[in-house]
Amino acid sequence: MSMFDGKKILLGVSASVSIYKSCELIRQLRKEGFEVKVALTKEAQSFISPLLFESLSSNKVYTDVLEENSYMGVSHIELAKWADVIAIVPATAHIIAKLAHGFADCPVSLATLASDKPKIIAPAMNSKMYENIATQDNIALLKKRGFVFVEPMVGELACNSVGVGHIAEVEDIKEAIESLFFEKSLVGKTIITTASSTQEEIDPVRYISNHSSGKMGFAIAQMAFNMGANSILISGPSNLKAPYGVNRINVKSALEMLKAIENQIRLCSKNDIYLIMAAAVSDFKPKQPSAQKIKRQSKDMLILELEQNPDISKSIKEKYPHIKLIGFAAETNDLIGNATIKIEKKGLEFIVLNDVSRKDIGFDSPNNEVTIIFKDGKTKNLPLMSKKEVAYNILKHL
Ligand SMILES: Cc1cc2nc3c(=O)[nH]c(=O)nc-3n(C[C@H](O)[C@H](O)[C@H](O)COP(=O)(O)O)c2cc1C
Repeated sequence: MSMFDGKKILLGVSASVSIYKSCELIRQLRKEGFEVKVALTKEAQSFISPLLFESLSSNKVYTDVLEENSYMGVSHIELAKWADVIAIVPATAHIIAKLAHGFADCPVSLATLASDKPKIIAPAMNSKMYENIATQDNIALLKKRGFVFVEPMVGELACNSVGVGHIAEVEDIKEAIESLFFEKSLVGKTIITTASSTQEEIDPVRYISNHSSGKMGFAIAQMAFNMGANSILISGPSNLKAPYGVNRINVKSALEMLKAIENQIRLCSKNDIYLIMAAAVSDFKPKQPSAQKIKRQSKDMLILELEQNPDISKSIKEKYPHIKLIGFAAETNDLIGNATIKIEKKGLEFIVLNDVSRKDIGFDSPNNEVTIIFKDGKTKNLPLMSKKEVAYNILKHL
């Protein structure tokens, strides 16, 4: 059971060379639980046959404004009513112009005009076409009317040139669509989330670290954006993709993480800043990292002297008492006892408790089962669910 089960997306597809991205988008949306129906412009049908979209969406495809009754007996009005969100991916300069000026001469423009639901557009075109004042004015007009744009990137374009107009990544388009399904209850709040592990240098090629994948912190940062916050992610080394809409700052060591948090706090206005410490920060670091690679020595053992890293939550709370702190406790024994001590010692609002001794949840798993312990001693158990859902349930308490 996913949080998007049964939510309905009408995907409008127009005739861009990036059209193949819409096929991958359908696959990703359906994996998240969405139901997808597709409307194609006439020209889009010259690029890819409706049959492929029919097969990917497991739904009949809307291809002709004059043959509405063949669309499972449903008119464009009903199709527009059916959708919770209309997503136009990829969007050509031509379809953007038509939507801005109220045209209704193809399945995509007709269904969009007939809908009062949230609409999202992922433009894809040559940079000259994108930067053309006509296109920019059309985009500005649609934005003013509430259309959400997933901005194109600077990248390689089909015409063998490099410039702005390259369609956004499919994962980002999916995240942007998902974000439309959340109430913006965190508007006005800045949420700084730390994620992943830290690396503490032993020498230029070796370090001390831990198994944290960063998935939980990344999911929180993404959800904070979805719920309307100014979301900042300060991450230790991780291969995970930067979440959509989130300002990601990369760090390596615990000391770098502390500095990055302080920089962000100084940049923010005073009010409503939350720090969510989902990173697994190394408690210890080598006291004197070697400037040169340590060579295998004649003796059998290498003794490393470790010293404590600063306690990031505690240091931040002491220096910036207005910051509201949420902690994570990755415990393997006496879970509740250890977590409760941390709430008091670090001045936390609440703590999210993970049992990292379990293999099916925690560190690298896509799922998690946590208990939230509040400072008044109340607890809330969240059953096994995706890290995305855990993130939502945590952020609901801010
Ligand atoms: C191979 C090819 C690729 C094209 N790629 C794009 C594109 O990426 N973006 C765009 O705005 N137009 C592109 N065009 C032009 C559109 O297909 C043309 O403007 C068409 O009328 C758009 O129709 P539609 O918006 O109704 O789908 C391309 C044309 C061809 C032949």
